[in-house]
Amino acid sequence: MENKKMPALEMRNITKKFGDFVANDNLNLIVQKGEVHALLGENGAGKTTLMNILYGLYTPTSGDIFLNGVRTNILNPKIAIENKIGMVHQHFMLVKNFTVTENIILGKEKKNKLGKLLLRKSKKDIVALSKKYGLLVNPDDKIEDITVGMQQRVEILKALYRGADILILDEPTAVLTPQEIKELGIIVKNLTAEKKSIIFISHKLKEITQFADRCTIIRRGKLIDTLNVTDVTEHELASKMVGREVNFKIEKKKANPQKPILKIENLVVKNNMGLVAVNKLSLEVKAGEILGIAGIDGNGQSEFVEAITGLRKAESGKFSISEVDLTNKTPREIFLNKVAHIPEDRQKFGLVMDFSVKENFILQTHSYAEFSDKGFLKNKNVEDFANKLVAKFDVRPTNINKKARDLSGGNQQKVIIAREVTHDPQLLIAVQPTRGLDVGAIEFVHKSLIKQRDEGKAVLLVSLELDEVMNIADRIAVIFEGEIVGIVDAKKADINQLGLMMSGGKL
Ligand SMILES: Nc1ncnc2c1ncn2[C@@H]1O[C@H](COP(=O)(O)OP(=O)(O)OP(=O)(O)O)[C@@H](O)[C@H]1O
Ligand SMILES: [Mg+2]
Repeated sequence: MENKKMPALEMRNITKKFGDFVANDNLNLIVQKGEVHALLGENGAGKTTLMNILYGLYTPTSGDIFLNGVRTNILNPKIAIENKIGMVHQHFMLVKNFTVTENIILGKEKKNKLGKLLLRKSKKDIVALSKKYGLLVNPDDKIEDITVGMQQRVEILKALYRGADILILDEPTAVLTPQEIKELGIIVKNLTAEKKSIIFISHKLKEITQFADRCTIIRRGKLIDTLNVTDVTEHELASKMVGREVNFKIEKKKANPQKPILKIENLVVKNNMGLVAVNKLSLEVKAGEILGIAGIDGNGQSEFVEAITGLRKAESGKFSISEVDLTNKTPREIFLNKVAHIPEDRQKFGLVMDFSVKENFILQTHSYAEFSDKGFLKNKNVEDFANKLVAKFDVRPTNINKKARDLSGGNQQKVIIAREVTHDPQLLIAVQPTRGLDVGAIEFVHKSLIKQRDEGKAVLLVSLELDEVMNIADRIAVIFEGEIVGIVDAKKADINQLGLMMSGGKL
């Protein structure tokens, strides 16, 4: 007999240790049927670890899991899936050159008696599922050709196709545009209407108050509280999570812009499909200012940044740093001209995941005299340097020998920022620098960018978060279909006006 009041999930006294490090410390989590339950906590608090335990990726050091009241040993993801648990990871796990359908049915292919794939039947089931929950996708598209928002839908469909009743969404909105976030909100409603339970991890407090029914807060592996979202404000959530007051609005002095550092003239760059993505773009970023690029995802931002960091060829036009022409130079040459880059995809371009924190700190500089003597690393110097950065940038845990892969997403980002601003750049290019960071860490990153500016560096901030651009930048350039359609003074910027420009409307 199924008990209506029985929670869909109870995780009881869960502890997980990695060596001496306690990532989850006696945690309790109860999730009801048809509820959206948010998990809130700083970077490294232990959210993903707890969910990896639920999904059978990690075995807890101690503690029990009950599904519909029945104690269940979830030894691996296969058992999790059999028990109707689905997980959409913080970093997607789709096969890039497979189609949507192939990815969804992977490992669960329907076959006839002769072992032949019943692709058409599978496709029909997928279309039916996607209609039911409003998860519109094209089953024949290849993953590499679709947007991140679409890829996420594929991940959700994949879990639903396997019959998930409890769906874990690990920072689902970190990579989405505002429009896609709204659509995800509707999808989540459709799912809970069918009595599915959603565990929703997010750093965006606004979303938690909008999407979730209840919220469990963890700090440094320990349970702080579980509360009804309607009873709290965003500020209360933030201070519970961080354990102190958080400033949402950063104080900054008036900018003191000097001579232009980055000069871009008529830059043309093509995308992977050979189409013009950046169209005769001209722009200047001065020493002592933060220029923010605002725009909706997919309007040429990525191609633009790739071109000026040497990762993609410019078809025509040019750009220079302090009058040195760097058009179509290598990333190394650009780096040597004192350009720092906080990349959009930190796992692909920012870090070597299997290197330790200390090795990641000296990726571009290991051959410098400070760190190297006739090809041998000066270990003591490297370690002193790494320990200094870890302390200064509050990387947790403070172990410099930990692999980048084993850091939480937010702490990986801190490692990159620490390394990049320590190079003493003339120009700092920061792309989505706070994606996936908790409010405390965001405050830290924003202060770092402003500090760079106040030290006379030129800062180029590219972000999909309009709030971030409006708060941090001194001037805002709006990009639309690869062109800068207007530049406004951030102090006078109006959110509606910017929104209009971002979608192609003229002033
Ligand atoms: N496989 C592992 N080996 C060693 N330490 C790990 C491993 N996985 C996670 N950790 C550590 O456990 C802690 C919790 O990490 P976790 O990924 O759960 O954090 P999180 O709350 O999801 O953070 P974020 O918001 O940044 O994603 C971190 O300090 C991390 O370094
Ligand atoms: Mg995480």
